[in-house]
Amino acid sequence: SSYETIQVTREGRVGTITLDRPKALNALNAQLMTEVVAAAEELDADRGIGAIVVTGSERAFAAGADIKEMAAQSYADMALGDWFAAWDRFANLRTPVIAGVSGHALGGGCELAMMCDLVIAAESARFGQPEINLGVFPGIGGTQRLTRAVGKAVAMDLILTGRTMTAQEALAVGLVSRVVPTEELLQQVAEVAATIAEKSLPVLYATKEAVNRAFETTLAEGVKFERRTFHATFALEDRTEGMGAFVEKRTAEFKHR
Ligand code: HXC
Repeated sequence: SSYETIQVTREGRVGTITLDRPKALNALNAQLMTEVVAAAEELDADRGIGAIVVTGSERAFAAGADIKEMAAQSYADMALGDWFAAWDRFANLRTPVIAGVSGHALGGGCELAMMCDLVIAAESARFGQPEINLGVFPGIGGTQRLTRAVGKAVAMDLILTGRTMTAQEALAVGLVSRVVPTEELLQQVAEVAATIAEKSLPVLYATKEAVNRAFETTLAEGVKFERRTFHATFALEDRTEGMGAFVEKRTAEFKHR
C-alpha cells in the first residue's frame, strides 16, 4: 500500500490496521492520523469487510499524540487547524472496530482505543492519560469517553494524576472487555473480529448504532430508537434467514456478509 506509518492487511472479512511508527512508539502525528482515517474509511466502505482491527506493536499500541509535532504549535494553529478533528471520522465508522492493545496506550493512544467499539488488552497493556504532565489535558475525546467508560471517580483519578493503569485494572473498571496473554493477543483479537465479521453486515451497523445511542441520548429516547431500529431488522432478508435457519435447525447463510 501507499501508507508509510501504518500497515493494512485483509484476512477474510476482517481488515487490520497496524500502527507502524516504531521509533516514536506509534505516536499519532498528522500523517499517521490521516493514514489511519483514510484506511479505516476505505475498509468501512467495503461490503466485504465486517470488522476492523486496530493494533500496534508489542511494545506500544500508541504512546499518545506526537508531542514533538505539537510542541511548537500556537493556539491559533490548533484552533484554525482544528487539530485532531479527523479522528471524529474514525469514531463515526459504521463497521465494528476492535482495538488490540499491547504495551503503552497513553494519551491519544488510550483515546484511540476508546474510539473503538471494544478493546482487548494484552497482559502487558498500560493505559493512561498523562497529558496533565505536559500542561494540557486529553484532547481527542478522553475527558468524555473515559468518563463514560469508567465513571467519574476513576476518570478523574487517571486524568488529574496522569498515572497509568495495568490491563487488569482496565478490565476491573470496564475499559477493556478481555485481557489475554501478550503472545496470544493478535490471534485472540483475530478470532473475535472474525466472529463478528460473519454476522449480517446491516445488522452489525444497526447494532453498533443502537449501542452507541446510549452515549448520546436519554434512556427513553434510546429505548425508542432501539425499538424502531429493531423493528426495521424485520425488513431484512438476513433476519428471515437467521430465524428460519434456527427453526430448521441449520446454520444461517446470511446474504449480506
Ligand atoms: C512523540 C514520542 C512519544 C510521543 C514516545 N516518543 N512517546 N514521541 N510523541 N507521545 C518517542 C520518544 O521521544 C523516543 O524517541 C521514542 O519514542 C521511544 O520513547 P522512550 O521515551 O525512549 O521510551 P521509554 O523510555 O520506554 O518510555 C516509554 C513512554 C515514554 C513511557 C511511553 O515514551 C513517554 O512517556 N511518552 C510520552 C507519553 C505521553 O505523554 N503521551 C501523551 C501525549 S499528549 P527519541 O527519538 O527521543 O529516542 C496526547 C494528547 C494530546 O496524547 C491532546 C491534548 C492537546
